Amino acid sequence: MVVVLIGYMGSGKSAVGRELARKMSLKFVDLDDFIEEKEQKSISGIFSEKGEIYFRKTESRYMEMLLSDTEDAVVALGGGTPCYGRNMDVLLERADQVFYLKASVGELVARLGKEKQHRPLIRHLSDEALEDFIRKHLFERNAYYLRAPHVIEVDGRTIAEITGD
Ligand code: S3P
Repeated sequence: MVVVLIGYMGSGKSAVGRELARKMSLKFVDLDDFIEEKEQKSISGIFSEKGEIYFRKTESRYMEMLLSDTEDAVVALGGGTPCYGRNMDVLLERADQVFYLKASVGELVARLGKEKQHRPLIRHLSDEALEDFIRKHLFERNAYYLRAPHVIEVDGRTIAEITGD
């Protein structure tokens, strides 16, 4: 059984994924961590040294590798993973369940404002610019995210509530 979590940065994919994996007695795999381990470099380092296009190609390759080699796991993808190339098709084909953790713009601004630093796409933005960026970016990305068969609203909900307590 492979369960995949998708959603914008800060929507809680890793925290929810870890707890869901524990409850389902599955292992938890985070694609960003998997990429960092394979490339021996941080995601920020890959962005700054090789650029976003290299990152997106690498990310797609590792997503396919992970989904074809993994049998029983909860997998958290990166916020952009479903939105490039054929990734959303591949993942709908390979995963048993795909959940979109859906957070509102307001919730994301509140969560991400506090931790922009290690996120290459938003670290350069002022607090004022962050909301506009997220609003536009989420609008574009929702076209991909909303193809997930299951949508879970996360605003104001604890991890225990989201994972079904
Ligand atoms: C990205 C999200 C990040 C990471 C990279 C790009 C994005 O993952 O893959 O910084 O394009 O939204 P998280 O969603 O786990 O922060």
